[in-house]
Amino acid sequence: MAPTISLPITDSSEIRDFVLNQGNGVKGLSELGLKSLPEQYIQPLEERIIVNEDNNIPQESIPIIDMSNWEDPEVANAICDAAEKWGFFQVVNHGVPTDVLENVQNATHQFYGLPSAEKRKYSKGVSPSNSVRFGSSFSPVAEKALEWKDYSASFYVSDEEAFELWPPVCRNQVLEHMKSSKILIRRLLQVLMKRLNVNEIDETKELMLMGSVRINLNYYPICPNPELTVGVGRHSDVSTLTILLQDDIGGLYVRGNNDDWIHVPPIYGSLVINVGDALQIMSNGRYKSVEHRVVANGSRNRISIPIFVNPRPQDIICPFPEALASGEKPIYKQVLYSEYVKHFFKKAHDGKKTVDFAKI
Ligand code: OGA
Ligand code: NI
Repeated sequence: MAPTISLPITDSSEIRDFVLNQGNGVKGLSELGLKSLPEQYIQPLEERIIVNEDNNIPQESIPIIDMSNWEDPEVANAICDAAEKWGFFQVVNHGVPTDVLENVQNATHQFYGLPSAEKRKYSKGVSPSNSVRFGSSFSPVAEKALEWKDYSASFYVSDEEAFELWPPVCRNQVLEHMKSSKILIRRLLQVLMKRLNVNEIDETKELMLMGSVRINLNYYPICPNPELTVGVGRHSDVSTLTILLQDDIGGLYVRGNNDDWIHVPPIYGSLVINVGDALQIMSNGRYKSVEHRVVANGSRNRISIPIFVNPRPQDIICPFPEALASGEKPIYKQVLYSEYVKHFFKKAHDGKKTVDFAKI
């Protein structure tokens, strides 16, 4: 299907239709070579991201942890300390092979290189299944200003379903990446649980921590006025843990301890790990699910691939009793995870507010 839009675009419903309904995404918009950012992507001043390029000011940085000896108490301590203090860290020598990472990145470019009509097959209201969801921005129905990003979210149920329903150009690479990361995910959770006095992860806990996995292929195309918009607005993830693979472009910022925004520099072969709201709740606030956001880029197309490791929709999450053993008062109540997720997706990105839903 050839793009049915004429330049210059002035009608805002025409843009929504082109991006969201016709499956062109912001990638399609970017490739039209617009001279300026369409109005609906202009973010309010307070949400725009001013990139500090003054390299003379030394910036704090999130920890980089070598996982080679992950059972070494010092490594375990570094992981737990990072999860408490920053909620974010990078891991190297994590055991996921570099070629698996490169393959899934190449496959992501292949997916986005498909014609819009192909990608559109996976969009809401078109796809007969919910296994893959291709879309643009975060929640276009709820948002006052749109975000400069396309995504494809794959929900893992079984290999059979993935073979049947995931896009053939990337399904093997995505599955392989997901499977290779499982060992790393288990190790991280094992270490993090120990500090919460959970010495063994039994089957019930394992399902609660990592029973449901979603993997996103994110695409942030070149933007005509990156300073006026965002790639992703301020949010925290609703996951237990997120394992993010980013390319060499950069642009992810994390809220630091002094309320400043700290850049997460790309490191070849590394993975960025962050605590999500579910783990913040289960740890009774000990591990922090930290706000983060992504800038739009004026010169290069960026991709990122987060694996969201989640409780299952039917799980009821709350602080683990072991984490409260010392008499600590719970600050979160029991919530049905599917309700929590529903609450997140029905509003626009709003920083750290989602977790209030679970506060006592
Ligand atoms: C996300 C996210 C960061 C990135 O998808 O939740 O925060 O760098 N992505 O793309
Ligand atoms: Ni995120």
